[in-house]
Amino acid sequence: MMIASLTNEFQTILDNTLKPRVFFAPGRINLIGEHTDYNGGYVFPASISFGTYAIATKRTDKKIRFYSKNFEESGVIEVSLDDLSYNKSHDWANYPKGMLKTMIEDGHEITSGFDVLYYGNIPNGAGLSSSASIELATGVMVEQLFDLSIDRIRMVQLGQQVENNYIGVNSGIMDQFAIGMGKKDHAILLDCNTLDYTYAPIALDDYVIMIMNTNKRRELADSKYNERRSECERALKDIQSTLDIHSLGELTIEAFEANKHLIHNATDRKRAKHAVYENERTKQALKKLESGDLQAFGKLVDQSHLSLQHDYEVTGLELDTIVEAAWEQPGVLGARMTGAGFGGCAIALVKSDEIDQFKTNVNAHYKKVVGYDATFYVATIGDGAKEIKL
Ligand code: GLA
Repeated sequence: MMIASLTNEFQTILDNTLKPRVFFAPGRINLIGEHTDYNGGYVFPASISFGTYAIATKRTDKKIRFYSKNFEESGVIEVSLDDLSYNKSHDWANYPKGMLKTMIEDGHEITSGFDVLYYGNIPNGAGLSSSASIELATGVMVEQLFDLSIDRIRMVQLGQQVENNYIGVNSGIMDQFAIGMGKKDHAILLDCNTLDYTYAPIALDDYVIMIMNTNKRRELADSKYNERRSECERALKDIQSTLDIHSLGELTIEAFEANKHLIHNATDRKRAKHAVYENERTKQALKKLESGDLQAFGKLVDQSHLSLQHDYEVTGLELDTIVEAAWEQPGVLGARMTGAGFGGCAIALVKSDEIDQFKTNVNAHYKKVVGYDATFYVATIGDGAKEIKL
């Protein structure tokens, strides 16, 4: 139903009577393993049913016409396949443009232009990876429209390259991986050093994953994010003066404790501590989930938040308030921020029959402290990026 109205809008807005094809890429949550991806550690994300739709047809010329229902004020943005360089005035369309350019540079042949309408239902600025979602929606669309056959992990890496080299955010591989490789009702334990991965069924008995949106936009997130990365790189360098390692993810807790004195700066030491301990928690989390020990899984989730709050310092009043309120509620296994931090969303594992009470209580406390409402959604874990066959 919604898709039918999107295809109608595609035809009207882009003045194109051809029958379009429909592609979808999800957003993601991360259960645990935060700020570990670029440190060569483990992450444990899952793709959600919120995401980005791309409705598209090929053209016979070299024009590409982009339209987003999320940025209607920008109108139709028209570019040529021959000039995909970054252009500030193209605003949101730089994400798909960057993906196209990166795919072409990787040797994939895009033989003509196309018309595309995007619509995303990922809450804006919520830290659920709307940018990786638009990159992968574009990747799958181009792959299918032009009969390319692209290795999916390669496509995921191209998405990360867009962020790193075209947009200028030094992000890791987690978001694009979760979105490109997601699987219904499963989370993915990914070793970001080797890209080895395992799907783990999310079997939470009578618990649900509640997404709690602080509605605090992730301002400054990009610059603070890059700052955390440099702090970890400095800590690694200090440790490399003695140990032959390539990433913090290679350190066990014991090795870290025995060598942490090598890290000169106390702040860098705290950042590295988070990266090492969080990595260990993430590996443990898979084991606890597999053995059905949900209580222990929830404890790891709580510890992750505390570490992100005190050692990595990427939470802030809004995320701390909402997570602490969640911890106080009956029927909660655990709660933590998810994604980069500095605002955006947290998750909580909540007993199904406590959902209504949970939302009311957490929101009341949150509003009292922060001054505005939070928003709550029960997460549905859906498939990764794909074409939706009509
Ligand atoms: C953002 C980045 C990811 C990851 C998380 C923190 O979502 O895009 O690569 O680093 O932050 O875990």
